[in-house]
Amino acid sequence: MQYNFDEIISRNNSAKYDELSVNYGRDDIIPMWIADMEFRTAQPIIDAMKNKLDEGIFGYVSRPDSYFESVRKWYLKKHNWNIESKYMSHSHGVVPGMVMMIKEFTDPGDKIIIQSPVYNEFFEIIEDSGRKLVISPLKLVNGRYEMDYEDFEEKIKTGVKMFLLCNPHNPVGRVWTKEELTQIGKICLKYNVQVISDEIHCELVYGNNKYIPFASISQKFFQNSITCFAPSKTFNLAGLQSSIIVFGNKGQKDRYDHLLQINDIKRNNSFSLVATEAAYRYGEEWLNQLLAYLKGNIDFVYNYCKENIPKIKPNIPEATYLIWIDCKGLGMTAEELKDFMTNKARLALGLWYGEESKDHVRMNIACPRSVVGEALMRLKSAVDNL
Ligand SMILES: Cc1ncc(COP(=O)(O)O)c(C=O)c1O
Repeated sequence: MQYNFDEIISRNNSAKYDELSVNYGRDDIIPMWIADMEFRTAQPIIDAMKNKLDEGIFGYVSRPDSYFESVRKWYLKKHNWNIESKYMSHSHGVVPGMVMMIKEFTDPGDKIIIQSPVYNEFFEIIEDSGRKLVISPLKLVNGRYEMDYEDFEEKIKTGVKMFLLCNPHNPVGRVWTKEELTQIGKICLKYNVQVISDEIHCELVYGNNKYIPFASISQKFFQNSITCFAPSKTFNLAGLQSSIIVFGNKGQKDRYDHLLQINDIKRNNSFSLVATEAAYRYGEEWLNQLLAYLKGNIDFVYNYCKENIPKIKPNIPEATYLIWIDCKGLGMTAEELKDFMTNKARLALGLWYGEESKDHVRMNIACPRSVVGEALMRLKSAVDNL
């Protein structure tokens, strides 16, 4: 079936619109911040949810074998990783799952390392859990972000306990190669640092870039890591709040599952269960069309800025629908940039991903191309008026 990603859909009850005033002080701006999409999900997912709706019973559910099988088959086919169901657990979102892992597998005051600029929640969940944040900044090499192994190892030596990896990386859009993951994974093994790999953006990869699940690289990496992924970003199901957590260490899985049990959060909600299974069984056709559309939006932004707003330099992401935009050319402080984007360009953009991100913004382009076009015109006119 042919999907129409150009359709403008008016959304009810969406954080992206309803939280504009709180976050940006006004709500008459184009929301391109939080990472969900303006597109209707794949028809087989909607159909599966409608079937559930028609049943009319929304009692407790448990995950059937067919659910695990759908995940296993998808991952094996797409990413060459055979995840047996005995390693899979659940969380009501990747972030809540990571918070539980931080609290269960480290102690207050322990050091946790991240690679900045990175998804803002990484900073918050570490500090809010009373752990110490250690930052190893990514380096920009010929316009492409790379890991800084030397810096990473130096920082790890100071007694770091855990590493939150973002693979692929939000916001810089890198798909880490096998070599990069191997190098960083070896450092973690050497210093006995547990890896939590957030792979939520793993299906949104463009062109010849290849997503490699960190845990699939070797048995040692598998045993030293916990992998988090979900159909939420890929199929626009974030509001269903359901993610998959893969443990390479049985003892850790038991401890985590015990936490789910005692907090009574071990079950899916009934819609997330059928939606997840439908996504992994029947979602590929929609996903292929989505990726082509998103790539068109990315190229549109890149080419438009190059020709019309040369002071604004978008990065071409290898993955994710988030474009990391270098605004150094505007010569503004972080505060001025926020004010400019919000009140002059009238765009709600992602604004804070660590100290290294103060002259960048993140634009979510998972919306109809006409909306991207309007956003670019606003940006151009605001820059022209400076
Ligand atoms: C890297 C990354 N991890 C996690 C999340 C949020 O996941 P969840 O809604 O499942 O907690 C996001 C959302 O933007 C993200 O970009």
